[in-house]
Amino acid sequence: MAEVIIVKDQEEAGAVYGRAVADLIKAKPDAVLGLATGSSPLAAYRALARIIHDEHVDVSHVRGFALDEYLGIPLDHPQSYHSTIRRTVVEPLGMDPNLVYAPGDLLDGAPLSDGKRIAQAGPAYDRAIEKAGGIDVQILGIGTDGHVGFNEPGSSLASGTRVKTLAEQTRIDNARFFDDDIDKVPTHCITQGIGTILKAHHLVLLAFGSGKAKAVAETVEGGVSAFCPASALQLHPHATIIIDEAAASRLCHKAYYRYVYLHKPQWQGI
Ligand code: F6R
Repeated sequence: MAEVIIVKDQEEAGAVYGRAVADLIKAKPDAVLGLATGSSPLAAYRALARIIHDEHVDVSHVRGFALDEYLGIPLDHPQSYHSTIRRTVVEPLGMDPNLVYAPGDLLDGAPLSDGKRIAQAGPAYDRAIEKAGGIDVQILGIGTDGHVGFNEPGSSLASGTRVKTLAEQTRIDNARFFDDDIDKVPTHCITQGIGTILKAHHLVLLAFGSGKAKAVAETVEGGVSAFCPASALQLHPHATIIIDEAAASRLCHKAYYRYVYLHKPQWQGI
Protein backbone atom coordinates (compact mmCIF):
# COMPACT_ATOMS: atom_id res chain seq x y z
CA MET A 1 0.00 0.00 0.00
CA ALA A 2 0.95 3.63 -0.16
CA GLU A 3 3.08 5.25 2.50
CA VAL A 4 0.92 7.66 4.51
CA ILE A 5 2.63 10.68 6.06
CA ILE A 6 0.54 12.83 8.38
CA VAL A 7 1.91 16.35 8.68
CA LYS A 8 1.03 19.52 10.59
CA ASP A 9 0.19 21.65 7.58
CA GLN A 10 0.70 22.30 3.87
CA GLU A 11 4.10 23.90 4.51
CA GLU A 12 5.42 20.73 6.13
CA ALA A 13 3.99 18.62 3.29
CA GLY A 14 5.59 20.98 0.78
CA ALA A 15 8.96 20.64 2.46
CA VAL A 16 8.81 16.83 2.18
CA TYR A 17 7.96 17.02 -1.54
CA GLY A 18 10.46 19.80 -2.19
CA ARG A 19 13.34 17.90 -0.60
CA ALA A 20 12.55 14.69 -2.51
CA VAL A 21 12.24 16.42 -5.88
CA ALA A 22 15.28 18.66 -5.42
CA ASP A 23 17.38 15.58 -4.60
CA LEU A 24 15.96 13.82 -7.65
CA ILE A 25 16.92 16.74 -9.91
CA LYS A 26 20.45 16.82 -8.47
CA ALA A 27 20.80 13.12 -9.27
CA LYS A 28 19.00 13.35 -12.63
CA PRO A 29 19.21 16.86 -14.13
CA ASP A 30 16.69 16.05 -16.88
CA ALA A 31 14.15 14.56 -14.47
CA VAL A 32 10.55 14.42 -15.67
CA LEU A 33 8.02 15.98 -13.29
CA GLY A 34 4.30 15.26 -13.45
CA LEU A 35 2.50 18.48 -12.54
CA ALA A 36 -0.95 19.01 -11.06
CA THR A 37 -2.89 22.25 -10.73
CA GLY A 38 -5.40 23.16 -7.99
CA SER A 39 -4.63 24.43 -4.52
CA SER A 40 -3.14 21.29 -2.92
CA PRO A 41 0.29 21.37 -4.65
CA LEU A 42 0.93 25.12 -4.30
CA ALA A 43 2.92 24.98 -1.04
CA ALA A 44 4.92 22.07 -2.47
CA TYR A 45 5.87 24.09 -5.56
CA ARG A 46 6.83 27.03 -3.34
CA ALA A 47 9.01 24.79 -1.16
CA LEU A 48 10.70 23.29 -4.22
CA ALA A 49 11.32 26.75 -5.69
CA ARG A 50 12.95 27.86 -2.41
CA ILE A 51 15.28 24.85 -2.28
CA ILE A 52 16.20 25.27 -5.96
CA HIS A 53 17.08 28.89 -5.27
CA ASP A 54 18.92 28.32 -1.96
CA GLU A 55 20.90 25.31 -3.17
CA HIS A 56 21.50 26.61 -6.72
CA VAL A 57 19.92 23.53 -8.30
CA ASP A 58 20.15 23.60 -12.11
CA VAL A 59 16.64 23.01 -13.51
CA SER A 60 17.38 24.04 -17.08
CA HIS A 61 16.97 20.46 -18.34
CA VAL A 62 14.04 19.43 -16.15
CA ARG A 63 10.99 18.39 -18.13
CA GLY A 64 7.34 18.58 -17.09
CA PHE A 65 3.99 17.09 -18.08
CA ALA A 66 0.73 18.49 -16.73
CA LEU A 67 -1.94 16.09 -15.56
CA ASP A 68 -4.94 17.56 -17.28
CA GLU A 69 -6.54 20.49 -19.08
CA TYR A 70 -9.96 21.99 -19.59
CA LEU A 71 -11.43 21.72 -23.06
CA GLY A 72 -12.97 24.63 -24.88
CA ILE A 73 -10.89 27.45 -23.38
CA PRO A 74 -7.80 28.82 -25.15
CA LEU A 75 -4.32 28.06 -23.81
CA ASP A 76 -3.80 31.69 -22.81
CA HIS A 77 -6.98 31.77 -20.68
CA PRO A 78 -5.76 32.54 -17.12
CA GLN A 79 -7.49 29.40 -15.79
CA SER A 80 -6.26 27.02 -18.50
CA TYR A 81 -3.92 24.51 -16.92
CA HIS A 82 -1.33 25.47 -19.54
CA SER A 83 -1.33 29.02 -18.08
CA THR A 84 -1.68 27.86 -14.48
CA ILE A 85 1.30 25.52 -14.67
CA ARG A 86 3.40 28.29 -16.22
CA ARG A 87 2.41 30.73 -13.46
CA THR A 88 2.67 28.39 -10.46
CA VAL A 89 5.50 26.05 -11.49
CA VAL A 90 7.51 26.97 -14.58
CA GLU A 91 8.18 30.61 -13.65
CA PRO A 92 8.84 30.19 -9.89
CA LEU A 93 11.10 27.18 -10.49
CA GLY A 94 12.84 28.80 -13.45
CA MET A 95 12.13 25.84 -15.76
CA ASP A 96 12.46 26.06 -19.53
CA PRO A 97 8.84 26.53 -20.75
CA ASN A 98 9.70 24.67 -23.94
CA LEU A 99 10.25 21.53 -21.89
CA VAL A 100 6.84 21.64 -20.20
CA TYR A 101 3.76 20.15 -21.85
CA ALA A 102 0.04 20.02 -21.09
CA PRO A 103 -2.44 17.61 -22.67
CA GLY A 104 -4.37 20.43 -24.32
CA ASP A 105 -1.31 22.03 -25.97
CA LEU A 106 -2.27 20.65 -29.37
CA LEU A 107 -5.88 21.78 -29.01
CA ASP A 108 -5.80 25.45 -27.97
CA GLY A 109 -9.50 26.05 -27.53
CA ALA A 110 -10.63 23.49 -30.12
CA PRO A 111 -14.39 23.02 -29.82
CA LEU A 112 -15.74 19.71 -28.53
CA SER A 113 -17.18 19.09 -31.98
CA ASP A 114 -13.63 18.77 -33.37
CA GLY A 115 -13.71 15.09 -32.44
CA LYS A 116 -10.85 13.94 -34.64
CA ARG A 117 -8.29 16.40 -33.28
CA ILE A 118 -9.42 15.89 -29.70
CA ALA A 119 -9.38 12.10 -29.96
CA GLN A 120 -5.81 12.12 -31.29
CA ALA A 121 -4.47 14.43 -28.58
CA GLY A 122 -4.73 11.87 -25.75
CA PRO A 123 -2.74 9.02 -27.32
CA ALA A 124 -0.20 11.57 -28.66
CA TYR A 125 0.32 12.86 -25.10
CA ASP A 126 0.85 9.35 -23.72
CA ARG A 127 3.39 8.69 -26.47
CA ALA A 128 5.24 11.91 -25.60
CA ILE A 129 5.45 10.88 -21.92
CA GLU A 130 6.75 7.47 -22.93
CA LYS A 131 9.32 9.02 -25.29
CA ALA A 132 10.56 11.17 -22.40
CA GLY A 133 11.26 7.97 -20.45
CA GLY A 134 8.17 8.24 -18.24
CA ILE A 135 7.35 10.57 -15.37
CA ASP A 136 9.77 10.35 -12.43
CA VAL A 137 7.55 11.99 -9.79
CA GLN A 138 3.86 12.69 -10.35
CA ILE A 139 2.29 15.09 -7.87
CA LEU A 140 -1.45 14.61 -7.37
CA GLY A 141 -4.30 16.31 -5.58
CA ILE A 142 -7.57 14.50 -4.92
CA GLY A 143 -11.14 15.63 -5.52
CA THR A 144 -13.79 15.45 -2.82
CA ASP A 145 -15.28 12.62 -4.89
CA GLY A 146 -11.98 10.73 -5.07
CA HIS A 147 -10.94 11.88 -8.55
CA VAL A 148 -7.30 12.16 -9.51
CA GLY A 149 -6.39 14.15 -12.55
CA PHE A 150 -9.87 14.59 -13.95
CA ASN A 151 -10.65 10.89 -13.72
CA GLU A 152 -14.06 11.12 -12.15
CA PRO A 153 -15.74 8.21 -10.32
CA GLY A 154 -16.40 5.41 -12.79
CA SER A 155 -13.22 6.06 -14.80
CA SER A 156 -11.44 2.98 -16.06
CA LEU A 157 -8.47 2.12 -13.87
CA ALA A 158 -6.62 1.17 -17.08
CA SER A 159 -7.40 4.40 -18.96
CA GLY A 160 -4.94 6.41 -21.02
CA THR A 161 -5.08 10.16 -21.63
CA ARG A 162 -8.48 11.03 -23.09
CA VAL A 163 -11.46 13.37 -23.03
CA LYS A 164 -13.75 13.20 -20.01
CA THR A 165 -16.90 14.94 -18.84
CA LEU A 166 -16.34 16.82 -15.59
CA ALA A 167 -18.66 15.75 -12.76
CA GLU A 168 -21.02 18.44 -11.57
CA GLN A 169 -19.39 18.34 -8.10
CA THR A 170 -15.99 19.09 -9.67
CA ARG A 171 -17.46 22.03 -11.58
CA ILE A 172 -19.01 23.31 -8.35
CA ASP A 173 -15.66 22.87 -6.52
CA ASN A 174 -13.76 24.67 -9.31
CA ALA A 175 -16.21 27.53 -9.79
CA ARG A 176 -14.01 29.44 -7.32
CA PHE A 177 -11.47 29.82 -10.13
CA PHE A 178 -14.15 31.12 -12.53
CA ASP A 179 -15.66 34.11 -10.67
CA ASP A 180 -17.76 31.67 -8.59
CA ASP A 181 -19.87 31.09 -11.71
CA ILE A 182 -20.39 27.39 -12.49
CA ASP A 183 -21.60 28.28 -15.99
CA LYS A 184 -18.10 29.54 -16.78
CA VAL A 185 -16.50 26.21 -15.75
CA PRO A 186 -15.94 24.03 -18.83
CA THR A 187 -17.95 20.80 -18.96
CA HIS A 188 -15.14 18.72 -20.49
CA CYS A 189 -11.46 18.13 -20.03
CA ILE A 190 -8.58 16.07 -21.33
CA THR A 191 -6.81 14.16 -18.59
CA GLN A 192 -4.06 11.66 -18.09
CA GLY A 193 -5.82 8.36 -17.47
CA ILE A 194 -5.46 6.27 -14.34
CA GLY A 195 -3.39 3.84 -16.42
CA THR A 196 -1.14 6.75 -17.47
CA ILE A 197 -0.77 7.95 -13.88
CA LEU A 198 0.08 4.46 -12.64
CA LYS A 199 3.03 4.35 -15.09
CA ALA A 200 4.81 7.21 -13.29
CA HIS A 201 7.75 5.95 -11.24
CA HIS A 202 6.66 7.67 -8.00
CA LEU A 203 3.26 9.13 -7.06
CA VAL A 204 2.93 11.82 -4.39
CA LEU A 205 -0.66 12.65 -3.46
CA LEU A 206 -1.34 15.70 -1.27
CA ALA A 207 -4.62 16.39 0.55
CA PHE A 208 -5.55 18.95 3.16
CA GLY A 209 -8.69 19.81 5.10
CA SER A 210 -11.68 17.89 6.37
CA GLY A 211 -13.41 18.13 2.99
CA LYS A 212 -10.92 15.55 1.69
CA ALA A 213 -11.18 13.18 4.70
CA LYS A 214 -13.77 10.84 3.18
CA ALA A 215 -11.99 10.58 -0.18
CA VAL A 216 -8.66 9.97 1.59
CA ALA A 217 -10.14 7.20 3.78
CA GLU A 218 -11.65 5.49 0.74
CA THR A 219 -8.37 5.85 -1.17
CA VAL A 220 -6.15 4.43 1.56
CA GLU A 221 -8.34 2.00 3.46
CA GLY A 222 -11.22 1.22 1.09
CA GLY A 223 -11.29 -1.33 -1.69
CA VAL A 224 -9.76 -0.58 -5.09
CA SER A 225 -12.67 0.71 -7.14
CA ALA A 226 -13.29 2.80 -10.21
CA PHE A 227 -15.79 4.67 -8.02
CA CYS A 228 -12.90 6.07 -6.03
CA PRO A 229 -10.33 6.50 -8.81
CA ALA A 230 -7.58 7.52 -6.35
CA SER A 231 -7.85 4.06 -4.75
CA ALA A 232 -5.86 2.84 -7.80
CA LEU A 233 -2.82 4.18 -5.92
CA GLN A 234 -3.01 0.97 -3.90
CA LEU A 235 -1.83 -0.80 -7.07
CA HIS A 236 1.30 1.35 -7.41
CA PRO A 237 4.62 0.08 -6.04
CA HIS A 238 5.78 3.55 -4.91
CA ALA A 239 3.01 5.88 -3.78
CA THR A 240 3.29 8.47 -1.01
CA ILE A 241 0.22 10.16 0.48
CA ILE A 242 0.96 13.33 2.45
CA ILE A 243 -2.00 14.73 4.38
CA ASP A 244 -2.79 17.00 7.31
CA GLU A 245 -4.66 15.96 10.46
CA ALA A 246 -8.02 17.09 9.09
CA ALA A 247 -7.66 15.07 5.88
CA ALA A 248 -6.47 12.09 7.97
CA SER A 249 -9.39 12.34 10.41
CA ARG A 250 -11.36 9.40 8.97
CA LEU A 251 -8.45 6.95 8.71
CA CYS A 252 -8.63 3.94 11.07
CA HIS A 253 -4.90 3.18 11.13
CA LYS A 254 -3.41 6.61 11.80
CA ALA A 255 -1.31 5.38 14.73
CA TYR A 256 0.28 2.73 12.49
CA TYR A 257 1.13 5.23 9.72
CA ARG A 258 2.73 7.57 12.24
CA TYR A 259 4.71 4.71 13.82
CA VAL A 260 6.06 3.57 10.46
CA TYR A 261 7.08 7.07 9.38
CA LEU A 262 8.71 7.82 12.74
CA HIS A 263 10.86 4.72 12.47
CA LYS A 264 11.71 5.09 8.80
CA PRO A 265 15.46 5.32 8.13
CA GLN A 266 16.25 8.80 6.80
CA TRP A 267 18.25 7.43 3.89
CA GLN A 268 15.10 5.90 2.43
CA GLY A 269 13.62 9.33 1.64
CA ILE A 270 10.01 9.13 0.53
C1 F6R B 1 -5.63 19.25 -10.99
C2 F6R B 1 -6.30 17.97 -10.85
C3 F6R B 1 -7.37 17.72 -9.85
C4 F6R B 1 -7.10 18.36 -8.49
C5 F6R B 1 -8.24 18.06 -7.53
C6 F6R B 1 -8.01 18.70 -6.18
O1 F6R B 1 -4.66 19.19 -12.00
O2 F6R B 1 -5.98 17.12 -11.58
O3 F6R B 1 -7.50 16.34 -9.68
O4 F6R B 1 -5.89 17.88 -8.00
O5 F6R B 1 -9.43 18.51 -8.07
O6 F6R B 1 -8.01 20.09 -6.32
P1 F6R B 1 -7.52 21.03 -5.14
O7 F6R B 1 -6.10 20.73 -4.91
O8 F6R B 1 -7.74 22.42 -5.64
O9 F6R B 1 -8.37 20.69 -3.96
